[in-house]
Amino acid sequence: PVDQRVKDLVARMTLSEKVGQMLQLDAREGVPHLVNDLHVGSILHTSPERVIEAHELTEATRLRIPLLVAEDCIHGHSFWVGATIFPTQLGMAASWDPALVERVARATAVEVAATGIHWTFSPVLCITRDLRWGRVSETFGEDPFLIGELASAMVRGYQGDGLSDPTAILATAKHFAGYSETQGGRDASEADISRRKLRSWFLPPFERVAREGCRTFMLGYQTTDGVPITINDWLLTEVLRGEWGYTGTLITDWDNVGRMVWEQKVQPDYAHAAAAAVKAGNDMVMTTPGFFEGALEAVEAGMLGETDLDAAVSRILTLKFELGLFDDPRRPDPARIASTIGTAEHRALNLDIARRSLVLLRNDGVLPLAGGFTADAKTGRAAGTGAPKRVAVVGPLADDAQTQLGDWAGSSGQADWLPDGQPRDMITTVLDGLRRSAPEGWTVTTARGADILTLETDPAGAFFPDGQPRPQVVVPCAPDDALIAEAVAAAQEADYVVAVVGDRIELIGEGRSTATLELVGGQVALLDALAATGTPMVVVLLASKPLVLPPSAMAAAALVWAANPGMEGGRALAEVLLGLVEPSGRLPISFARHVGQQPTYYNQIRGQHGDRYADLTQEPAFVLGEGLTYTTVEYRDLEVLTPEVDRDEVVRAQVVVTNTGARRAREVVQVYVSDVVTSASWADKELKSYRVVELAPGEVATVPIDLAAADCTIVDARGVRVVEPGAFELLVGASSRDADLLRAGFTVRG
Ligand code: IFM
Repeated sequence: PVDQRVKDLVARMTLSEKVGQMLQLDAREGVPHLVNDLHVGSILHTSPERVIEAHELTEATRLRIPLLVAEDCIHGHSFWVGATIFPTQLGMAASWDPALVERVARATAVEVAATGIHWTFSPVLCITRDLRWGRVSETFGEDPFLIGELASAMVRGYQGDGLSDPTAILATAKHFAGYSETQGGRDASEADISRRKLRSWFLPPFERVAREGCRTFMLGYQTTDGVPITINDWLLTEVLRGEWGYTGTLITDWDNVGRMVWEQKVQPDYAHAAAAAVKAGNDMVMTTPGFFEGALEAVEAGMLGETDLDAAVSRILTLKFELGLFDDPRRPDPARIASTIGTAEHRALNLDIARRSLVLLRNDGVLPLAGGFTADAKTGRAAGTGAPKRVAVVGPLADDAQTQLGDWAGSSGQADWLPDGQPRDMITTVLDGLRRSAPEGWTVTTARGADILTLETDPAGAFFPDGQPRPQVVVPCAPDDALIAEAVAAAQEADYVVAVVGDRIELIGEGRSTATLELVGGQVALLDALAATGTPMVVVLLASKPLVLPPSAMAAAALVWAANPGMEGGRALAEVLLGLVEPSGRLPISFARHVGQQPTYYNQIRGQHGDRYADLTQEPAFVLGEGLTYTTVEYRDLEVLTPEVDRDEVVRAQVVVTNTGARRAREVVQVYVSDVVTSASWADKELKSYRVVELAPGEVATVPIDLAAADCTIVDARGVRVVEPGAFELLVGASSRDADLLRAGFTVRG
């Protein structure tokens, strides 16, 4: 049994082998040093050459303990040329489709495992709160229930049928917990968050995946109430391991242990920091080389006993046994790489999820551009109705392959260890997509119209806190009259103009929060000028996160948010615009009208005095759950069949939905609950479940709704999750917007 093998091995390890086993270091630091001198248990940011070298060196060590190889493959394999890059997590979340997300994670695991990686740092379970935060695109959005559904699916996909399956990889639930509750959206700032607030919104998705068997958890960076997350005893020991019974491995984020010394300054030296981190229950220490000497010193000084390390080391070794690495370290496998990376099947899946990730936010009837909805059987192009049309595809992102992939994808700009990105011809941009799928005889022209930003060396020599120079700063480009004139001319000669605008990779990611949410550079001036031409304008927002849109975009003939839709994103967009595919995405996150509205999430605590600023409404531009289709669906006759239930019973209800349009519908029937009077302040509504129904034109369906009364909880003033008997309302409809919801009451008996 694994337990016995772990115990035997731990008993044979020296102190320095135990300390090393707890270390995960950057393979670029030099593999021989990491393996031979520091006895590391894991490496990250590798290449196949480094992985093979590391395995060979490990096999020559005293105990031949295999290494865990880790990487951030968070929406596909992040650095393998030719690998499949799916939409970002936020894009995938717009599908509201756990089964599809699970298949994406499975495909990712298959590709990642073939290249010798055992562990991915995904999924992200942070709740987006402030849209200025740089890591919004890595999240599943703003709702804890939806995050739980999708994260759980992703974990299942990565870990497959069990870790002994060679295509299974370790999933990581990150960043535990409260990291996204930033100040001003600034990454890794102090999180001003109470335990009650954590229990209310931030912890539930983590609890779910902990209980469902996610094998690793990663910390965030933040401090809360003066305590760095790395040594937050309450969260790490009492809640995670105690209440939830989590038996998996806990890894810090990047240099969390060192940060307590040089950044947060709550530990005087590495010996104290190492002792505190081990005692708080951290198993693996990411990229703090000083942990090695620090932990040895701590033991020497009596701050740490050698046996204090045993629990952590045992948990790491358990993973290695479960993965079967002692028998087969799972080296990169050329044959498997050739047969699994970027296969036609994975590309088809990529296209499927890209199609599902697109959210249609406005349509005055201009879409679908091709009028009809059929494809030419021979060419696969849209068939089109009427005379051939001219489409001008303009904007700085119309042909931008890199932005389409998003963060953590090849040379995304996120990190310098990533090699050059995917070959250009593997990526279909919006321009490529429209050229390939527009009906025979249509004309597709293009013009850049605007630039977004340039990177310049910071003259002031801005530094990261650890002394590393920050080499470049973002400088927005001014509107360029010549570029705009070219785009305007293209629009004037066209029947439709498709303007592809958004953000760029330099504006998102770890440490890249933004102070503003507006379109950067010449983009607003471009949209204004295009709107003034009178040519019907379709705005495609290729934006990693919700941005604040100018009036010209909000009033455009059509508006589609595409997030970063991945390699096949441009094809999916073209298909939706032309009518080959129905739009079906729903927002997993709200859009603000103004940056000053932050935060804009839908489930805010009720009872805030007034619903508007003196100078602006508080109403977001678009809310959770919104998304149009090419048909219309009517909701009626919401009926609660069990108006009074006990706490252990199920509320049964039904609603009638009718497809009143001429196209098929994929309707996401959303179920929210409002607890009418609560003992502590609470959100006015919370998403509790949803059901997807496919409806043919004219079809009427009675959709059953089953809701466990035990799910109708709040967290009371003591911080305890409870069902408070009394009156509730069931809210059912097409989005979280009040106007979209039918209401019916029910009572939970005391
Ligand atoms: O996994 C990431 C984490 O999300 C942020 N800091 C660095 C880690 C490893 O790359």
